Amino acid sequence: MMLFPRFLILSTLAFSQFTASLNITRSKPHAALAPSPLPPSHAHSDGEAIITAFQTLGRTTPWTWVQNITFEGDTYEPEGIVRLGADRYIVSAGEYTAPTVPYNKTINGTDRTAGAGFAHLIVFGGDGSRIADATVTREGDIEYHNGGLDWDGENLWGAIAQYRPNSTAYVYKADPTTLEPKTVVHYDDHLGGVVHDKTLNSITALNWGSRNATTWHLHPHSPPSAPATPVRNPSFYIDYQDCKFLGHSPTYSGRPIMLCGGVSTLVSNGNVFYLGGIALVDVEMMVPVSEVPITLTSARGVPLTQNPIDASVSKEGSLRLYLLPDQRESTLYVIEASG
Ligand SMILES: *[C@@H]1O[C@H](CO)[C@@H](O)[C@H](O)[C@H]1NC(C)=O
Ligand SMILES: *[C@@H]1O[C@H](CO)[C@@H](O)[C@H](O)[C@H]1NC(C)=O
Ligand SMILES: *[C@@H]1O[C@H](CO)[C@@H](O)[C@H](O)[C@H]1NC(C)=O
Ligand SMILES: *[C@@H]1O[C@H](CO)[C@@H](O)[C@H](O)[C@H]1NC(C)=O
Ligand SMILES: *[C@@H]1O[C@H](CO)[C@@H](O)[C@H](O)[C@H]1NC(C)=O
Ligand SMILES: *[C@@H]1O[C@H](CO)[C@@H](O)[C@H](O)[C@H]1NC(C)=O
Repeated sequence: MMLFPRFLILSTLAFSQFTASLNITRSKPHAALAPSPLPPSHAHSDGEAIITAFQTLGRTTPWTWVQNITFEGDTYEPEGIVRLGADRYIVSAGEYTAPTVPYNKTINGTDRTAGAGFAHLIVFGGDGSRIADATVTREGDIEYHNGGLDWDGENLWGAIAQYRPNSTAYVYKADPTTLEPKTVVHYDDHLGGVVHDKTLNSITALNWGSRNATTWHLHPHSPPSAPATPVRNPSFYIDYQDCKFLGHSPTYSGRPIMLCGGVSTLVSNGNVFYLGGIALVDVEMMVPVSEVPITLTSARGVPLTQNPIDASVSKEGSLRLYLLPDQRESTLYVIEASG
């Protein structure tokens, strides 16, 4: 790692006393971080095609393995992924340097110690080669858990939180050509799974276990408006981990729809099993409008939908998913719905 040049940029933020940090290692110093021109968001390209393809899915849909791409180097715990065309993937990840320890009781509303670590944004080429690894928090920052990632055609959107429930977090945006994070809003709860609705210019983020969603309206010349009361997530089939805004869908009467992937851990008579799945979710109501389980696992036995998910549609109109379930040494699994 130290063979590569490091650049340190500290940025001060508009509308906020919080500062973000960028400490980037470029493994391929001459390779661009993002393609030019930048690809459009799902909402402005294939969002409705993804929703249409989703309508054909069911519990018995056969999924075929299209490609397994080994991602080079340490991926820490991957939490979110954005596919910027065929040749760039940006992964949000958390590096943990000290574990959280259960309190075994509730202290200050939470249940464990803060632990320690760093939030990362890592860039990979289409063949899995490592292009850059940006550490976007500072040593000692209590907020270091980097949740799911969204792409709006201009900025990446993410949330960096304390790695414990009912804590604190901030939503950031980052230009993919620099990876410099800019804090957008700070909040008194754990946050992840952010999506940006450019039409309404609102951001929605999920809390610990995706039990609540909070929406902020963004304004060009003033801070985001105070969040409305969180919306309770009525679904307990899976906890959403990473979501992608797909647009205001004609299929669903113009409702704002996101694609989410996730897992739940279910216990029955002392036996633990993991349910993985994907869902189309109404961003405002948090109601899943379509849900499908995915039982495939990685070569290491982890449910494919454990964490990062992105999607595209094949030439034939089939849904393709891009999934990165494993920690530290990761394979990107590209699967396609057939039949
Ligand atoms: C950059 O981030 C790494 C963690 O990935 C950390 O060990 C190192 O101290 C950071 N460097 C600076 C100058 O902050
Ligand atoms: C909570 O319990 C676990 C298991 O018994 C133990 O390892 C841990 O240290 C306890 N936490 C604290 C803060 O005492
Ligand atoms: C709980 O909050 C209080 C007040 O902010 C603080 O002094 C205390 O250290 C916190 N306790 C723990 C275990 O973090
Ligand atoms: C979150 O923590 C606050 C205190 O910091 C407490 O009042 C509240 O009940 C907690 N909420 C939940 C859902 O645990
Ligand atoms: C979710 O938000 C509601 C308010 O809408 C609150 O009562 C509840 O405690 C929150 N649940 C969690 C798990 O944070
Ligand atoms: C990809 O990995 C999965 C899980 O180990 C395996 O079943 C599949 O055959 C692999 N597919 C390809 C195209 O290598």
